[in-house]
Amino acid sequence: MKLPKIYKDKDTDLKLIKEKNIGIIGFGNQGRAQGLNLLGSGVDVKVGLREGSNSWQVAVDSGLKCEAIQDLVSNCDFISLLIPDQVMGEVYSEFIEPHLTRGQTLLFSHGYNIHYKLIQPPEFVNVIMVAPSGAGTELRKQFKISKGIPGLIAVHQDYSGNSFELALSYSKAIGLTRMGVFESTFKEETETDLFGEQAVLTGGIPKLIQSAYKVLLEAGYNPITAWFVCYYELKTIVDMFHSKGFEFMNNAISDTAEYGGITRGNRIIDEHVQNEMRITLKEIQNEQFHNEWMLESENGYPALNKLREEEKQIPIEEISKQLLKELFENK
Ligand SMILES: NC(=O)c1ccc[n+]([C@@H]2O[C@H](COP(=O)([O-])OP(=O)(O)OC[C@H]3O[C@@H](n4cnc5c(N)ncnc54)[C@H](OP(=O)(O)O)[C@@H]3O)[C@@H](O)[C@H]2O)c1
Repeated sequence: MKLPKIYKDKDTDLKLIKEKNIGIIGFGNQGRAQGLNLLGSGVDVKVGLREGSNSWQVAVDSGLKCEAIQDLVSNCDFISLLIPDQVMGEVYSEFIEPHLTRGQTLLFSHGYNIHYKLIQPPEFVNVIMVAPSGAGTELRKQFKISKGIPGLIAVHQDYSGNSFELALSYSKAIGLTRMGVFESTFKEETETDLFGEQAVLTGGIPKLIQSAYKVLLEAGYNPITAWFVCYYELKTIVDMFHSKGFEFMNNAISDTAEYGGITRGNRIIDEHVQNEMRITLKEIQNEQFHNEWMLESENGYPALNKLREEEKQIPIEEISKQLLKELFENK
């Protein structure tokens, strides 16, 4: 496969973004990281927060100016929405939309609200996406050591005629083009991001670990031995294939591990699991997951709160906390 263009630092410059007044709404995972990285790149950036926000003083102590959200929207050319996706639509209707003016840019770090039409911006603004492929903590950590993480960019609405260039310039300012950004669409980013979380990152992998641990315990094995093999060793394996590929991993492990892994792995992650993945993807594409999640949010998260309590009771949680403390904290 011929790789599409991956944009690097040399393909853009900071000039475009430095000419703008940037307003970041929210100072959480992404807001803090993007705000501080923009500041570090010499960009004129402020933070917009709700009334009485606990983050106000935290942002000020980090060197950022703060304003009420509606004032920020009136005063900035470029507005980056970095609050939880499930509340973004409401905040947009009340504090952002009434204050928008011609030629401003709305920037999203995830396509959710545009793709599912929770936010439908007027035609006189640019609507772009700069989605870091990783958590805010990682984005900030890498930036501080002159590195970055990759990301996806997209243009939904190009009013000014240079929205793509603006997205690239912003990507450089937060450190993404140090590694590389790739052009996508709001639809593709939203659907693949949700699927990746559910099937692999925050769904598949944790559940695979918990299930394997449970099976070993049911068979009478020592919880500590079971934890080492099902939980702790995962990082070594991920580190091996993350930067060098599965072939490198297979060369680095024993032949026994390679043979057992491929033959039993194919049996465990079988057609049934793949069919469940197809159903999961369908639910994202046909908006079933989105409707369920919005209802959950409107009702005050009854299912999520119950699931959080249940997750705390999962046997591997207790042993993980004890062992992680013992291994990493007790010298
Ligand atoms: N988590 C990640 O690292 C990550 C990675 C890639 C993309 N993204 C995307 O980045 C965006 C932000 O996600 P996030 O995880 O950074 O969000 P987050 O940490 O949950 O956002 C917290 C911030 O949002 C503010 N906030 C929450 N509810 C609000 C409301 N009703 N009105 C006004 N402000 C409110 C909070 O205000 P207070 O300070 O007042 O509490 C806080 O400053 C999302 O689109 C997400 O999909 C996130």
